[in-house]
Amino acid sequence: MSTWLNNAWYVAGWDSEVDSAPLARTICGVPMVFYRKLDRSVVAMRDACPHRLLPLSMGLREGDSIRCKYHGLKLGPDGVAEEMPLRTDTVNRKVCAETYAVAERHRFVWVWIGEQDKADPALIPDLWPCSTPGWTFDGGYYPIACDYRLMIDNLMDLTHETYVHSGSIGQPELMEAPINTRVEGDQVFVTRWMPGVDAPPFWAGALKQAGPVDRWQICQFLLPSAVLIDVGVAPVGAGASLESHDQGVRGMVVDFMTPESEGTMHYFWGMARNFEIGDAGFTARFKAQQGGVFAEDREILEAQQRAIAANPDLRLAAYQIDEGGVRARQIIARAIKAQQQEAQA
Ligand code: FES
Ligand SMILES: [Fe+2]
Repeated sequence: MSTWLNNAWYVAGWDSEVDSAPLARTICGVPMVFYRKLDRSVVAMRDACPHRLLPLSMGLREGDSIRCKYHGLKLGPDGVAEEMPLRTDTVNRKVCAETYAVAERHRFVWVWIGEQDKADPALIPDLWPCSTPGWTFDGGYYPIACDYRLMIDNLMDLTHETYVHSGSIGQPELMEAPINTRVEGDQVFVTRWMPGVDAPPFWAGALKQAGPVDRWQICQFLLPSAVLIDVGVAPVGAGASLESHDQGVRGMVVDFMTPESEGTMHYFWGMARNFEIGDAGFTARFKAQQGGVFAEDREILEAQQRAIAANPDLRLAAYQIDEGGVRARQIIARAIKAQQQEAQA
C-alpha cells in the first residue's frame, strides 16, 4: 500500500519551470517528462521510450512532438508513435507512452496520478492566496530526501521554530502559547494566538513599527498534501483576532509536498502576502529569507529520515504538539483506504 493518495492532483512544478525543453520529474513513483507545446499548454508523459526505455526527457523536441535520442522513435503529444526508428516502417499506433492529465492553477503545473478518467480540475486544492487579487505570491522548490509526511508533521507543528529557526522566526513564546487543533471534514487546523509579544526579527522588519504585537499562526492541512499557514503580526490594540487579522502584516505560507518515492519528496514552498504587493524587491528578499528558513527544515528532515532508517526498531512518538500532523496522517490514510475500497468494489 502506497503512503500517498493516487487519485489526486499533485504539484509537478512551478509554471515557470516547465517550458519547451523537456523537464524530467518523478511524481509519486512515476518517472514523467513535462514540456510545453507551441500553444503553451503542458504535456505530461511517462519518461521512458516505448522502445528500449531510454528517458524521453533526453530526447529532442520537434514541434509538439518528442523524438527519442536513442533510435529516433517520434511520439506525438498524445504519446502515440508518429515515426518509427526506420522511416520506411509503417507507423504502429499501438506504440505509445502513457500520458497524464495536467492543469495549471495558482502558478503551479498540476498532474493527476491514478485513474485518468477521474481527473477533474475542480478537485485541485484551493490555494486561494496564490491567485487572489490584492495578494502577491512567489516561492521556490527544494527536493528533500524524506517521506513527504514528515514535512506535513513539521508544518503542522510550529513549536519547532523555536529551535530550528532561532535566528529568524523562532521565539520562546511559541512554546508558551496554547495551541488548538481541530478537524473539519478532510481538513485540519492548528491555531495559535500570541498576544502582546515582541515581534521576531522577520516580522519586525515587515511591520516597520516598534512595540509589542499580537502574533498568530493558523496551519491548515488540505488533501492530498498541502499546508497553508496564515501568519502575521499586528500592533497590540489594533483589534486583530484569530478570526480576523488584516490590521498588521499578513502572509500565507504555501506548502505543497509532492511525493517522489517513499523516502523522497518535492517541496514547493512560497509566501503569499497582502502588503507591499507591488514591491518586487521585497518579494525577492522575502523569498531569499524564506528559502533560508526552509533550508533549515530540510537539514532537520533529511537527518530525521536517516535516523528513522537507522533505527527500524523504534517508532515515532507523538505528544500534544504533534496532534495536527497525527490528524493529517489519519485523513490521508482514511482517503487512501476509501480509494482502495472503491477500486475493489
Ligand atoms: S530507445 Fe527510444 S527509439 Fe530506441
Ligand atoms: Fe520550519
